[in-house]
Amino acid sequence: MELDFTEDVLRHCGGRLTIHDAQLLNESARAIKARNILEIGSMDGCSTMILGNIVRDFEGRLQCIEPAPKQKWRWNVDRLGLQDFVTMHFGGAPWVGHDKIIQHCLPPIEKKDQPLDYLFIDGDHRTRWAIVDYHYYMPFVRIGGRIGFHDWWDRKDAGKWVREAVEIILRDDEPLLKKVGETQNARGYIVFEKTGDHNRYR
Ligand SMILES: C[S@@+](CC[C@H](N)C(=O)[O-])C[C@H]1O[C@@H](n2cnc3c(N)ncnc32)[C@H](O)[C@@H]1O
Repeated sequence: MELDFTEDVLRHCGGRLTIHDAQLLNESARAIKARNILEIGSMDGCSTMILGNIVRDFEGRLQCIEPAPKQKWRWNVDRLGLQDFVTMHFGGAPWVGHDKIIQHCLPPIEKKDQPLDYLFIDGDHRTRWAIVDYHYYMPFVRIGGRIGFHDWWDRKDAGKWVREAVEIILRDDEPLLKKVGETQNARGYIVFEKTGDHNRYR
């Protein structure tokens, strides 16, 4: 089921995503038929509505990590009837461990230690935190899965911090990441496809 972004998602999400971010998020996850999705930072549920709708269509599961979801988040999930497809981990990344995330992923999974199809990073935007979110959860994304950073073009400090994080990550991991798309606007979203592992550290 396609969402009407302007009339539905965007109206109910407090402007967390722009329409172009929402479209890129939707298209980049649908293109790989993402079934096991991890969202870091859920707040009002704007991205949760988009990703939740996708996992409903592909009979998957969206896991969310968020220490303080807003009332609106629950309301949005209920309003779209996504309760059975979304698991909220009340806590902060990276302290919601990979074992817990893996445990909630739905089969069939090709490589059991790499169950994630899509990792959406939109939690604490400070550079070190965005890097840690990537560094900790990236190994659990399958090859061919996707990893996105939201707010990388935010006009306030967040944009600067997230862009710096992406730049530092690419310094090491450029050979492992192929850019799928980006938007540059008041918030902005950039998505990569994972093409390899940095298993020299594991
Ligand atoms: C920009 S908002 C997320 C917006 C959300 N994706 C949406 O579309 O409505 C950032 C959120 O990250 C949460 N956050 C902060 N630190 C976090 C952490 N360590 N792990 C997960 N979420 C975190 C904040 O509580 C806040 O709700």
